[in-house]
Amino acid sequence: MSWKQIVFELPASRAGLAEAVLEAAGALSVTYLEPISGEPVLEPAPGATELWSELRVQALFPAAADAEDIAARLAEGLGARPEGWRVEALADRAWERAWMDDYRPMSFGGGLWVVPTDMSPPEPHAVNLRLDPGLAFGTGTHPTTALCLQGLAARPPAGAHVIDYGCGSGVLAIAALLLGARTAVAVDNDPQALLATRENAERNGVAHRLTVLEADAALPATDCLLANILAGVLEALAGRLAGALRPGGRLMLSGILAEQAASVARAYAPACGMAAPVTRSGWVRLDGVRRGEGA
Ligand SMILES: C[S@@+](CC[C@H](N)C(=O)[O-])C[C@H]1O[C@@H](n2cnc3c(N)ncnc32)[C@H](O)[C@@H]1O
Repeated sequence: MSWKQIVFELPASRAGLAEAVLEAAGALSVTYLEPISGEPVLEPAPGATELWSELRVQALFPAAADAEDIAARLAEGLGARPEGWRVEALADRAWERAWMDDYRPMSFGGGLWVVPTDMSPPEPHAVNLRLDPGLAFGTGTHPTTALCLQGLAARPPAGAHVIDYGCGSGVLAIAALLLGARTAVAVDNDPQALLATRENAERNGVAHRLTVLEADAALPATDCLLANILAGVLEALAGRLAGALRPGGRLMLSGILAEQAASVARAYAPACGMAAPVTRSGWVRLDGVRRGEGA
């Protein structure tokens, strides 16, 4: 079977109306996408559905649907024909696998790879973290995750007790464990992330060294704290995260845009000696060492 896909743009305030018109016209699905030139929506709170102010709407219909009739119905419902109108024919394929097309084994240096579960590791004797994309953030494709994986691979946390704060899929905690960390505590404010982290840790054979914690739990004293969240959250949590590090403990912060680095570094500077930012695709990682006795 083949399909007809209709794409157009409109203000988010009109999305509900457009969706009702599309469904009445027989749409099989309606998807809201980021507009080509829009600002990204980064990390909505758990359960929140944040939209861009302008949306790209993608609606799927059976191939026989009459696109001109759908355009006319939308024009009537919305008061004007939508901008950026495009009609595309879609051939049928194994859609349940299509989203994995671009997901391939990735190397982060130091013999660390992230490898999809249905592919063979290119280097079977390397440290191979087996992971598929899921509902929780974190596969290694995003620069913020990649920066942390590179940092871990360059200096494996052998024998350390590690906290992964904002664990998402658990990718950083699991990488730390596979690279020799003694234990890892994975923390997130999204219950789905804690479930994903546990499952991914089981798949990688490290679940017995991992504890998952909700975000309001007390943090144990730790040798190494990783946090890939957003700059504002990292700043707000500076006291809590730096406070969990033992003197001499290692801090690795990510999720920070280059222009935000100085402000985040300032928030951690009272407790930690901060190194110069490490940059990748406009994002930075900030490394630090907790000051104090023995540091
Ligand atoms: C960018 S993802 C990082 C996931 C993974 N650690 C990685 O590096 O790919 C950020 C994660 O932090 C979580 N998060 C955001 N704000 C948080 C908060 N205040 N406390 C705990 N977790 C938070 C989100 O739910 C999300 O799973």
